[in-house]
Amino acid sequence: MRSIEAVSFEGVELDFSWAFEKENTRYLTHDIHRYPAKFIPQLARRIIETYSVPGDYVLDPFCGSGSALLEARLVGRSAIGVDINPVAVLVSRVKADPIPPVELSEEWKEFNEGTSPLFSWNHVEPYVIDSTTLKNWIPEKQLRDLGKIFRLIKDVENERFRNFLLVAFSNIQKDCSWWLMKSIKPCHDWDKRVPDARTTFIKQIKKMINKNNQLWETLKDTNTQLKVYESDARVLSTVFDEKVALSVFSPPYVTSYEYVDIHKLSIIWLKEIPELNDIKREFIGSTVSNPSDIVIESPTALKIVEELEKKDKSLSSSVQTYFQDMQKSFEEIDKKLLPEGFVSIVIGNTKLRRVEIKNAEVFAEMFRALRYGEEKIVKRPIPSKNLPSTRDAKTGRFTSVTTNHVKAYPHEYILIFKKGR
Ligand SMILES: C[S@@+](CC[C@H](N)C(=O)[O-])C[C@H]1O[C@@H](n2cnc3c(N)ncnc32)[C@H](O)[C@@H]1O
Repeated sequence: MRSIEAVSFEGVELDFSWAFEKENTRYLTHDIHRYPAKFIPQLARRIIETYSVPGDYVLDPFCGSGSALLEARLVGRSAIGVDINPVAVLVSRVKADPIPPVELSEEWKEFNEGTSPLFSWNHVEPYVIDSTTLKNWIPEKQLRDLGKIFRLIKDVENERFRNFLLVAFSNIQKDCSWWLMKSIKPCHDWDKRVPDARTTFIKQIKKMINKNNQLWETLKDTNTQLKVYESDARVLSTVFDEKVALSVFSPPYVTSYEYVDIHKLSIIWLKEIPELNDIKREFIGSTVSNPSDIVIESPTALKIVEELEKKDKSLSSSVQTYFQDMQKSFEEIDKKLLPEGFVSIVIGNTKLRRVEIKNAEVFAEMFRALRYGEEKIVKRPIPSKNLPSTRDAKTGRFTSVTTNHVKAYPHEYILIFKKGR
C-alpha cells in the first residue's frame, strides 16, 4: 500500500451509450428468480467483452443472482462466482448452467407424478420447520403445501435437478405468502389473495423449463465452465485456485439492503433453520456487521467517516466497517487477478444524514493504493423509468425530483481499473 491523494469524479460527463434504456433484461434465464439490484445484462456483457477475451476466467465476487456469470458464459468466458447469500449461490448455479433438455424433461415427468393429486400428493407428509417467521408470513394451507413440495424436492437424487426445483420453490415464497409483492423489503399485505402453492410452483417450473432449454441451445456448442461458491469476498483467495483476467461486480451498499431480511423465507427453508439470528453479520453493508481492524487507505473514506461521526456515531461506525470490508475484499480480488488484469465496479454514490457517501471515489483511491491505474471512468445515467428522481438525502434511496429546473439524472459509475501500473 502507498499513501494517496483524494480523487474527484465531479468533472466526468454522463455517457448515454451506457444507459441501456430500452433493452430487454429478461431474456434466457435472467428472470427465473427475483433479486435486488441485478446487473443490466447488456452492461455486464459490454464490460466483459471489452476487458477480457474468450477462454478467460471472469470473476464476480458478489455474484448475487449470477447475471455477470451468465453473460460471461454467453460470450465464451468461464465464470467464477462467490456470494455469502445461499439464495444467490443457488440461483447463480441454476441460472448460468442449463440442464440438458432431455434429462430435465425426464426428471420433471417423474417428479410431477408426486405433485399430482392423482398420484401421491394427498399422501405426502409436509416437511415441517418449526419457524415463527414462516408462520407469520405464510397462511396455514400454503405452508402445508410448501412443506409437501419441499419434502418431495429433498427426495430428488439428481443434484442439478434438485437445485432447479429449489430455485422455483424459493422464487414462489413471496407469491405464496402475505409478502407485499411490490415491496423489496419485508412488508405484510394482509388483503392479498394468496395463491395455491402447488399451482404456482408448477407454473414457475414450466417457465423455467422453457428458459433452461433456450439457454441450453444457446450454450451447447461452447466450452466454458461455471464455478459458484457460498463464501465471503473478504477471504476470496482461499476459496478457489484459478487466476482471473477480469473481476466485474456491483458490490453491496452500506445500510441499504438487508439481504437476509429480503430472502428470509427462502433462507429458512434452504438452511433448515427456524430463525436467522447471526447470519446477517457476515453480509457486508449490513447494519450489524462485525467490526474490523483494517486501516482504511482512502482519504475520502476517512473524511466521510469523520463527518458522519459528528451526526450519528453508530451510522459512522457502520460506514467505517463497510469501507474496511470493501478494502479487504479488494485486496483479496487483487490476489486472484492475473498481471495486467482488469477490475470493473458498478457503483453509485449516495447520501446519509446529508453526508455524501462517495463510494466511487473511495474505491478508486483504494485501488490506487493497490497500484492499479484508472483505465476508464464512466458516469452512466440510470434509465428513465426511475426519472425524474434523485436519492433521498437521509436514506440514500431513490425518491422524488431535484428542482431548480435542472433535469437531474440519477447516475452511477462504472469504474475500470488495470492492475500493475
Ligand atoms: C448488488 S448485489 C449483486 C447483484 C448481482 N450483480 C446480480 O446481478 O444479481 C451485492 C451482493 O453482495 C453479496 N454480499 C454481501 N456481503 C458479502 C460478502 N461478505 N461476501 C460475498 N458476497 C457478499 C450480497 O449477498 C449480494 O448478493
